[in-house]
Amino acid sequence: MKRVLTGITPTGIPHLGNYAGAIRPAIEASQTPGVDAFYFLADYHALVKCEDASRVARSRLQVAATWLAAGLDIDRVTFYRQSDIIEIPELCWLLTCLTPKGLMNRAHAYKASVDDNLAKNNEPDEGVNMGLFSYPILMAADILIFKANSVPVGRDQIQHIEMARDIAQRFNHMYGQGQQLFVLPHEHIAEHVATLPGLDGRKMSKSYDNTIPLFEGSERDLKNTIQRVVTDSRGPGEPKDPDSAHLYAIFKAFAAPQQSQEFAQELRAGLGWGAAKERLFELVNEQIAPMRERYHELIAQPQIIEDILQAGAEKARQITRPFMEELRQAVGLRPATLSHAVSDEKKTASKKEPRWVSFKEDEDFFIRLLDPAGETVFLSHPFAAPNEMGQVMRALQKGQFELQVVENQIILCADEKEIAALTQEQGELVRQYCLT
Ligand code: TRP
Repeated sequence: MKRVLTGITPTGIPHLGNYAGAIRPAIEASQTPGVDAFYFLADYHALVKCEDASRVARSRLQVAATWLAAGLDIDRVTFYRQSDIIEIPELCWLLTCLTPKGLMNRAHAYKASVDDNLAKNNEPDEGVNMGLFSYPILMAADILIFKANSVPVGRDQIQHIEMARDIAQRFNHMYGQGQQLFVLPHEHIAEHVATLPGLDGRKMSKSYDNTIPLFEGSERDLKNTIQRVVTDSRGPGEPKDPDSAHLYAIFKAFAAPQQSQEFAQELRAGLGWGAAKERLFELVNEQIAPMRERYHELIAQPQIIEDILQAGAEKARQITRPFMEELRQAVGLRPATLSHAVSDEKKTASKKEPRWVSFKEDEDFFIRLLDPAGETVFLSHPFAAPNEMGQVMRALQKGQFELQVVENQIILCADEKEIAALTQEQGELVRQYCLT
């Protein structure tokens, strides 16, 4: 079974772009055999960006109702609120204590805020709270506590998944005693999913205030909003270019290919924008009308939603409770009766591994391989630039190198360069330490 997990930040009212880009593909993925899906409302993350308590509360309800109305099968999928899983903030703290601050300094979202401040001549950290700064650590906790393999996200989130992997590796290394406590997660970027343009043609997003709400409001509201999609000024009868029409991009996300082609043909033949909008409304409304009805029923009975989410949390905590217990033990938060256990330090010391180290001498950079006792196995040729050395270092650490026998020497090559000339004996040690 592949465990797929993703979080939905509940801020604002779900719109057609969320539906086509995230909700619909996620629900489809959850129906695939072999997939064990975990979908949750990232409400702790919502607090980072939204201080309006009633808006957070409303949005949690609306987003939950949206996913349920859109057909999420809660018998198949584990559906819960982040803030109902107390092991998540607990793990978040353990991870915070081993995450280098420098790693968080490099996070895109934080850097964007700093750059924005600098551009406005503000203090670099003005308006930045620690939630924004540590956002990727909380996200790592969300993912790692469930041992998720695959995390479907948008491109803007790739760095966060990389950071989760990095943090997981660190934890495994420090506390795993040779065991992989955490599974290393991978991002999944859906290639064929549409990004919808909004009313003004920019990406549909609540931050641009250009959205078409999915279920909120009535059929009439949907119709009126679709009327506001921007078009060019060509009148009825004039040929139109479907590929530059936002209206057509939205249409395609809801239509079968055949249907889209016919629509494009009609636009080229001069279908008026008014009639085209009517057609778009009908297409979308036909698909979402039954769901809209379920949505309004659910919103009117919040107790049903609350019960579903509580049951989801209980199902999720069957996993997080025992795992957190294991993690607490691993970091040393143990019952008093276990405080005298064999020193972990000794255990790790006896398990020392060979490692690659780099250093600088005069103006040159070198790489050295140390054996488990810390003795030098060999020294590389000098590198003139640190980034060149860094690149070779990464290749060596991953075991991406070759040993070529040339006469009675062994040439170690990585990154398409000769890195060192070794004796037979050194070559044998390298093979033994790094290639087995
Ligand atoms: N940060 C994600 C977003 O803004 C939401 C999120 C929170 C998430 N925790 C997660 C996504 C864990 C995937 C996995 O889209």
